Amino acid sequence: MDGVRYDSIIVGGGIIGLSIGWRASQLGLSVLILEKGDPPDAASAAAAGMLAPVTETTFGEDALLQLNLESARRWKGFAEELSFAGGINLADHRRGILHIALDRDQSESLSRLFEYQQELGLQVQWLSSMACRRLEPALHPSTRAGILAQGDWAVDPRSVLDALRTVLRSAGATLRHGAVVTKVKSGPSPSVRLDTGETIEAGTVVIAAGPWSGQIPGIPSRVSRAVRPVKGQILRLRPAAPMPPPITQILRTEEVYLVPRPGGEIVAGATVEEKGFDTAATAGGVFELLRAAGELVPGIREMELVEVKAGLRPGTPDNAPLLGTVEPGLVMATGHFRNGVLLAPVTADGIAELLAKGDLPAELAGFDPRRFQE
Ligand code: GLY
Repeated sequence: MDGVRYDSIIVGGGIIGLSIGWRASQLGLSVLILEKGDPPDAASAAAAGMLAPVTETTFGEDALLQLNLESARRWKGFAEELSFAGGINLADHRRGILHIALDRDQSESLSRLFEYQQELGLQVQWLSSMACRRLEPALHPSTRAGILAQGDWAVDPRSVLDALRTVLRSAGATLRHGAVVTKVKSGPSPSVRLDTGETIEAGTVVIAAGPWSGQIPGIPSRVSRAVRPVKGQILRLRPAAPMPPPITQILRTEEVYLVPRPGGEIVAGATVEEKGFDTAATAGGVFELLRAAGELVPGIREMELVEVKAGLRPGTPDNAPLLGTVEPGLVMATGHFRNGVLLAPVTADGIAELLAKGDLPAELAGFDPRRFQE
């Protein structure tokens, strides 16, 4: 026992863990964040950072859509507060996201999606081929149509992570890297044990360890079995000097998304692979992404490939996160699957409220981690 007791110990130093730690510290709690990576290997560092609840609307996921929309509404204030407090300009991209159909099949499925988005009252606009190419002249001439989701945008998750680490420290939270948790204990005296043999006590332990959340001994098996890793390979491309970046608009098709960063880099993602904890970059993954990106924007083929990275999303059986108390003193904040960056503000606000006041706000009530039975 090291003798120090925290109000909250958060296991996981990705965007979810750091955001909860920040909000909990702002509510006056003493917070310790334990991150196994050194430097952190969180999936958030690989992510493209799309804040795209409308573009990524999925049939039959209406409750998750409402949570995504609520978090998207909070992102602007979250980014402004973080930029100001963290002294980092979270340069963003506010021109909407354009979802493109390149052939007849894609155009038919895009039109079904458009009808569904309209039924849901979402802010979307159907654009002809010509209107798409006026907005983004670098699009392939075979572009047939597109949906513009004007309110969707993106942040750079690496800048967000840097800003969060800065604001956390100034809020008084402690962040430990290279801290591998070997056991969590719930009940009246919650604690975590580290691979160093150290045991640290807390008022509450929060598991925000992304795809690794299910691997930590001490978590009830029905909950831990609900979280699985879903691999995503993602590329970073840079214009070959002295060329300007080919696109200024965030674009996506059924197969790939392209996110231009303010400095000229373009992020192309991402594969969706059930490969366990494997994070190898593969020739096939890179090939498929580049093929789909080149079919959407031929100018991509002239860019330099500067990074290939694989991250692991925390998937769940219903694609929705696990948010809330699972046993006394043990809270889950994981399973965000494709929406970790998007869902950071609403998760952080809600879990911090649970930690400080004992109540989970209504918007998180539908995501009880105990919904998956043995
Ligand atoms: N949100 C995009 C992805 O998971 O690839």
